[in-house]
This record gives sequence, C-alpha cells and structure tokens, in this order.
Amino acid sequence: MSKYIAAIDQGTTSTRCILFNHQGNIVSVGQKEHEQIYPQPGWVEHNPEEIWKNTLEVIAISRIKASATAADIAAIGITNQRETTVVWNRRTGKPYYNALVWQDTRTTDLVSKYEKEGGLNQFRDKTGLPVSTYFSGLKLKWLLENVEGLRGDAEKGEALFGNIDTFLIWNLTGGGHGGIHVTDVTNASRTQLMNLRTLQWDQEMLDAYNIPSLMLPEIKSSSEVYGTVSNEVLPGVPVAGILGDQHAALVGQTCFEPGMAKNTYGTGCFLVMNTGTELKMSENGLLTTIAYKFGNEPVQYALEGSVAVTGALVQWVRDNLGLIKKSSDIESLAKTVEDNGGAYFVPAFSGLYAPYWRNDARGVIAGLTRYVTKGHIARAVLEATAYQTLDVVNAMEQDSGIKLSSLRVDGGMVLNQLLMKFQADMLNTQVVSPAVAETTALGAAYAAGLAVGYWKNTDELKSNWAIAHTWNPDMEGEKRDALYRGWQKAVTKSYAWMD
Ligand code: G3P
Repeated sequence: MSKYIAAIDQGTTSTRCILFNHQGNIVSVGQKEHEQIYPQPGWVEHNPEEIWKNTLEVIAISRIKASATAADIAAIGITNQRETTVVWNRRTGKPYYNALVWQDTRTTDLVSKYEKEGGLNQFRDKTGLPVSTYFSGLKLKWLLENVEGLRGDAEKGEALFGNIDTFLIWNLTGGGHGGIHVTDVTNASRTQLMNLRTLQWDQEMLDAYNIPSLMLPEIKSSSEVYGTVSNEVLPGVPVAGILGDQHAALVGQTCFEPGMAKNTYGTGCFLVMNTGTELKMSENGLLTTIAYKFGNEPVQYALEGSVAVTGALVQWVRDNLGLIKKSSDIESLAKTVEDNGGAYFVPAFSGLYAPYWRNDARGVIAGLTRYVTKGHIARAVLEATAYQTLDVVNAMEQDSGIKLSSLRVDGGMVLNQLLMKFQADMLNTQVVSPAVAETTALGAAYAAGLAVGYWKNTDELKSNWAIAHTWNPDMEGEKRDALYRGWQKAVTKSYAWMD
C-alpha cells in the first residue's frame, strides 16, 4: 500500500500541500503565499496562474521534504477557498480575468437590484443562500457582463467556469489536453446555482443570473476518483477528493453526527454544523449548505454561519495601521490592558455576513474616548472575532434546537490563547482544539483516502481525532451580558454606510 495521501489546501492567502500518513498525522508541508490584488475599494482579486504555479511548487516541496515518489502517494485531495470565481479558455487555459475572490464586493449594485425585484431571500428555498456579493453566481454574472468576448465564448462552450478546485483539477489532469472539468457538491453549493435537493445546476437559477450552462463543470460527490494527475509533479496519482475548505474542516474534525459543529478561525470565521440527511432552512440568517457526500452514500447537509472578517482584521491592523509587526503580536499588545476600555471594532469591511447579511455595512470603531490605547484597540480586534462567533452560535442554537456542549475549533487564530479563553467565556461553553490542527487539509485527505480504500470508513477516521487543548469558561454572566450588549450596539452603527 502507498504510504501517504496528499492534500492541496488552496486558501485565500496561501497554497499548501500536506502529506498525511495513515494515522492522519502530518509528514511534510509545502506552503507559498500569493498576491492579494485590490484594484479599487471593495475589489479583491487573485491571479489564477500564480495560484496554479504555486500549487505545483508546494506539491514538489512536500514531496522532496518527505522523500516521496509519486508511487508513495495513494491519492490526492483538493480543498479550496470557496466562491472565488475563475473563467478560462478551454483550449489555451488562459484566464479571461483575475479570479474574483469571495470577499470582493463589486456586485453590490447587482445585489440591490435583486433585492428590489424579489428580495434577498428569493432563492433561499432552492439554494439555501441569500442574494449576496459573497457567492460565485453573481461574480460570474459580473464577469460575463464586463469582460469583452467572454459571453460569446461561454455560449460556444469555449470558456469554462470554476471555483479554484475546478481550475486546479482541470490543470492537474491535462489542462487543454484532456483536463477534466468537475467540481463537488460542497463547492457547487456555494455558487448559488445548484439546487440543494437535486444536487444539479438549477435552470431557473441559471436563467435568473443569465449564465450559459455550457461553461459549468460537472457536479460530482466529494469522494470518488475523478481522474489522474497527468502533470509530472505527481504522475498517475488519482485525484479522489474535493471539498470546499470549511466542509473539509468539518470532515477533518470528524463531525460525522448530526449536531456536531466546528469553527475555523482563518481570514474569516466559519462555523458549520452537520444536520444529517435532512435539509434544514435557517430562520436566523444562517446558510444551508452541503456538509459532504462520500461516493454513493447519501448527501449530508449542514448549517453554516460565515463571518467575513476575523483574522483579516489582524492582518489589516498589521499592514494598514502598522500597529504590530507580525500577526501573532496582537496577543501581546492586547495583554497590555485588562479589557477593551469601552472600545468595539466592527470589521464590516465586506459588509456583514451571518446572521446580519448587511451588504451596506462598513467597518466602525465605536466607544472611543481619550482613555483608549492601542492595547484596547488590539483587544477590541480580538474580541470582534469572539462576538461574531457568538452571534452565529446563538443563531445556530435557535435554528437547530441543539445547545452546543462544546465547540471544536481550528485555524490559525486558535494559537491565540487570549482569544480562545475569551471565546469560551463569551460562549459560556468549553472550546476544544484537536491534536492535528490542519483539519482542512486533513479533511481533503480523508475524502481522497476513503475513495481509494486507504481508510476503510469514517469510524477509522474518528479514532484518529484527539484533543490538544481545552479552554473552560469562568466569566460572570453579568459581565458577559454587558460586553455583548456593547457589541450589539456597535454593530448597529456599521449599518447603511453606503447610503
Ligand atoms: O468562504 C470562504 C472560505 O472558504 C475561505 O476560507 O480559509 O481560505 O480564508 P479561507
């Protein structure tokens, strides 16, 4: 049997390839950051060709570090930043435009138009999603309307659409020379073009957004052999798993039972709860989405609370304000003070996502007095992540009727002890992190490994999961409530900024 499973984790800020062994432990990692392109306020782009080049590099690095040949790798799984939208030419592989990143808000006017014409929730029943700048469908519509020649090529089947998973797999399996054009149900569920019940592209949605169906990839399960790598970086290795990154983290955290949830603290925060084989519509501003679908097994659904800006706020404080040198310094700066000094930071840089869905919101710092120092601001920055998570947990508990007994957490910000303790205090619930912190890549590896028999079943995966750290709450209720009231008030100050 081959020794490893490879997982590519193509995220918002970097691309990684991680090799895992049978115990689900990391053997080697290759990682490379890519450029964030901000052509105008609210616009966020990536260069797809840079991401493809980085993908090849990180695969090579991870192989070299583990001295692994292609034969040592049983399969490769892909996980990716979701919603980010790429269109490229079927023959040349050339992108027609930079990738429009999930955080990009250039479709705000389109959102307003649909809001006026039928309301933000007009497609919820089919797609589980509100009309928002976040999802791929409107981004694709924008590209079709604004990039010269694209619509004509799309109607002839010359131009292909994909999220990053699709773009990478097309390239890995041959590109213009026989590359396969596929995606999985989790990524497709974030385009707002797939029907959650049929798991197929929905003609009414394609009509509503005026998208030519010829440009769309085939929708597959999250765990099956889609094809093999033709590129010399991993020749002949089966591509056998695809999961959007938040769905992958749910799998990596082995949340296979209904009611189990994980929260990933990355650029944004994404809390996902497995709701089983039943589709649950949210009444509290959460998204209904696909958890995963392993081969021919029934699809599993999930509720998700997405928060656009959490870790990205720390980066902004580092890069745009220069208050800290590296992201991890935010913790020591926050520790210079006892509390937030009355300051709240609502990072509505891309509007507000769950549970508010306010495209018109923009960032505010509220409660400033001369007393406030940069330490208090650092604290408000970290607290914003915890409050936004609490907003989502409250909505999740109401929608699911399940009280979270503990929250499984992962992602870069889990290293921040102050934040995790404050999170436990604000939730008044235990917060636990797993021994293998790279749950996103691990989830993609699990999907691929299940497809090729490297792992037998989900029970085997569950036995790999272990706790690394537990944070217990001990804040008094009154204090918690007062802090949260301040946050809720600050949120209202971010509204209607675009009017
Ligand atoms: O929905 C966007 C999300 O998938 C991006 O995740 O970890 O790349 O910031 P991340």
